[in-house]
Amino acid sequence: MAATFLIIAGLMVAVRVVTADDTSAAVPFPVEFRKWAVLRSLVVGPESKNFTINGGFHHYYEKEKAVEGLHTGHFPDGAVVVDERLEIRQEGGGIFEGPRKSVAVMHKDATRYANTGGWGFDVYAGEERTQGASGGVRAACFSCHSKSKERDFVFSEFRK
Ligand code: HEC
Repeated sequence: MAATFLIIAGLMVAVRVVTADDTSAAVPFPVEFRKWAVLRSLVVGPESKNFTINGGFHHYYEKEKAVEGLHTGHFPDGAVVVDERLEIRQEGGGIFEGPRKSVAVMHKDATRYANTGGWGFDVYAGEERTQGASGGVRAACFSCHSKSKERDFVFSEFRK
């Protein structure tokens, strides 16, 4: 009994330490994001120096709560924006969506992600749904998105 209590107490301490130290906590996979509104799409071509990672289609999706932020520049908790990256497949003169390369996600929760501007950043490779990116990668997302700090770390604007 006492041993069980100690183990549970130990686990609780471990969990708390990880949370307190984690400057860029992991973000859950944005389930069914393909049902959300499309904010915009773009294509990164072979002349881009980041083609290996970023090349191909990008579709940005906005979960309902993100709409307010896109208009005001201040996103409420629960806002989620997704950057889905897909390979390009050319056929018969057409350009089509190929396999999914990755799903990058920004999730607003001012308390949980207080150390990264209130946004959680993460990226899921291919069809992966449970294992996101390393802390280093997530920190790099935040660092670059800080260039758009005045628009609450989001680059895209709503197009009428
Ligand atoms: C070197 C800079 C840079 C890094 C690193 C970066 N991004 Fe971005 N991200 C951008 C830019 C710039 C855009 C907007 C591009 C455009 O549409 O013109 C963007 C767009 C986005 C969008 C669409 C919303 C918006 O801001 O327009 C999401 C979601 C996103 N990035 C998530 C991530 C995640 C998650 C990571 C880390 C895995 C990441 N980004 C890493 C620069 C970066």
